[in-house]
Amino acid sequence: MNTPVPINIERMEHIKRIEFDRPRVNIPGSTIAGSTLSVDHAWAKVFTEPNPAERIELKARIKRLLKEQNAVLVAHYYVHPDLQDLAEETGGCVSDSLEMARFGSNHPAQTVVVCGVRFMGETAKILNPEKRVLMPELEAECSLDLGCPPDEFAAFCDAHPDRTVVVYANTSAAVKARADWMVTSSIGLKIVAHLHAQGKKIIWAPDRHLGGYIQTQTGGDMLLWQGSCLVHDEFKTAELIELRKQHPNAKLLVHPEAPASIVALADVVGSTTQIIKAAQTLDATEFIVATDKGIFHKMKSAAPGKNFIEAPTAGNSATCKSCAQCPWMAMNGLANLALVLENGKNEIQVDPLVGLRAKQSIQRMLDFAQGLNLTQGQTQIPIITQAPGTSEHGIGPA
Ligand code: 13P
Ligand code: SF4
Repeated sequence: MNTPVPINIERMEHIKRIEFDRPRVNIPGSTIAGSTLSVDHAWAKVFTEPNPAERIELKARIKRLLKEQNAVLVAHYYVHPDLQDLAEETGGCVSDSLEMARFGSNHPAQTVVVCGVRFMGETAKILNPEKRVLMPELEAECSLDLGCPPDEFAAFCDAHPDRTVVVYANTSAAVKARADWMVTSSIGLKIVAHLHAQGKKIIWAPDRHLGGYIQTQTGGDMLLWQGSCLVHDEFKTAELIELRKQHPNAKLLVHPEAPASIVALADVVGSTTQIIKAAQTLDATEFIVATDKGIFHKMKSAAPGKNFIEAPTAGNSATCKSCAQCPWMAMNGLANLALVLENGKNEIQVDPLVGLRAKQSIQRMLDFAQGLNLTQGQTQIPIITQAPGTSEHGIGPA
């Protein structure tokens, strides 16, 4: 057997400093007085792209290692196109958070390699505690997760014991463990509508935009944690209105983590899979897309011949913090993927007790999806819904 060429993982160009909104919850005594925002800081590594020869070598090496290690790749639509292609070429999957959560459980591989951000790896581990779950980078964060510390969130929930706790997938295992339900963007609206119909009052965390959107659509009684996604927070309304004037026939596709003023302009609001499906099925040839630009790779192959335009993130008055690319998703690359398969070092660990409690909230969502007949694969074929104000439903299969 050939001795593998050592992988130079020290390809890091620099550390990127990141600002994000950090909700501060004031709890005088045991009563929630309100929530304020302050700016907090995090960081992400910025890597150098491999050259063409390295790329070929790394891809071949990853394919060989996946076979040798009985491992499968699960990638999000926002990661580098090379990783998305590799996942598909090797029998893994590229999908939204809901499908990523389910894929590992339904696959015989003993090792699941998650190319995405940490909460995605944790969810895979919680659902498959007996499997080895690896990630190219354990420090790939998410501003929603960072903005919802488990102890503060637990205190918030304790102050409202009469409420059902619903959390978005973009949270830590400990926050999921404190929740009654975990939801993803593709099914959150359906689940909250179901709880609302049962007369339940809800605590929603951590994304204020997605929570606000679901509240508007369902009329639910929801207390919203005030977190946000730093990528989607950057879309600019005035500039988007201008762009639409230049492309009057283009349909606007928006992820519900975007602010309400952006969502209000949308033709379709949906999860990443639902946005891709909209591009495939809508009778239009041009689309403006308000989500991370990593999604364009899949959109172009899923809807060939159609034209995709990035929604603006920076206008005259804006500071471009993210430029529509999640800095933590971008930490996943060929070199650190090959390395983790070789040395097995970046294994996700979840405290077994926390994992057991978190699994209940995730399982509720999976059972609900199954009850709706949203079996695996069907979530890849979402039914397109209309924008708020023009339809009875927002996101989610009707
Ligand atoms: P999806 O579940 O729609 O893929 O969203 C995940 C995410 O983190 C979007 O920013
Ligand atoms: Fe989190 Fe936003 Fe990155 Fe998605 S795009 S992982 S919500 S920071």
